[in-house]
Amino acid sequence: VAKGKVYLVGAGPGDRELLTLKAERVLREADVILYDRLIGDEIVSMLRESGKKLIYVGKNKGERGDKRQEEINRLMKKYADEGKKVVRLKGGDPIIFGRATSEIEFLIKNSIPFEIIPGVSSVNGVPAYANIPLTHPELASCLIVLTGKEDMGKFHDLLNRSTFVILMGKDSVRDVAKGLVKFGLDAETGVAVIQRGTLRGQKVFFCKLGELSKCEEEFEGPALIVVGRVVDFVRELNDL
Ligand SMILES: C[S@@+](CC[C@H](N)C(=O)[O-])C[C@H]1O[C@@H](n2cnc3c(N)ncnc32)[C@H](O)[C@@H]1O
Repeated sequence: VAKGKVYLVGAGPGDRELLTLKAERVLREADVILYDRLIGDEIVSMLRESGKKLIYVGKNKGERGDKRQEEINRLMKKYADEGKKVVRLKGGDPIIFGRATSEIEFLIKNSIPFEIIPGVSSVNGVPAYANIPLTHPELASCLIVLTGKEDMGKFHDLLNRSTFVILMGKDSVRDVAKGLVKFGLDAETGVAVIQRGTLRGQKVFFCKLGELSKCEEEFEGPALIVVGRVVDFVRELNDL
């Protein structure tokens, strides 16, 4: 196990004041910061002024993403092996379209301790600054977040490559699960019911979608349900 630790930190969509208190603290305590292209200028200037070891690891135009990722992984391991506190600073939130999956996989496989520190995503932060609410009691009860790289003509294929995040579903988990299977989701899809998330006493209950529809478990509130193959992805990694 490496002596150091890696923090996958979200920097928010740009405005420095959208950095979280936790992100700010970890940045203050860090020995090395590996940062991306979309980090706000004010945040980069603040980091420069701190005099810390600051390494730009964003993708340059025309560069291959996998080569860049190998280099980022190498740097995370090098500094963590030296016992350093490494911040891997990403734009927005680190687990939304941030290539965090390959980094998490690498960190787990190399026994490097890590922590994910969420950030305000461009998904919610940017519309908020344009005064656009993302949900509406009558007009929008589902929020779809996807990349412009998808073939919109094959929108239906996306279903089993989607992550569903369900709020206010604690007391209707069984109906939700049945409904999603009816909707076309594979009954073997992983589910995580996260109770008291981010708080002391956070509890995560894992199962398959098919099992959830028959499950007897009582969940404590507040709870959020995540359904999708990403749940299987982390469960398999943690079993390694
Ligand atoms: C590779 S994704 C990373 C998303 C990021 N992890 C997040 O949670 O916001 C980069 C995309 O996020 C969006 N984005 C990020 N910052 C933004 C900003 N300040 N204004 C508008 N869109 C932004 C753009 O669509 C950009 O192409």
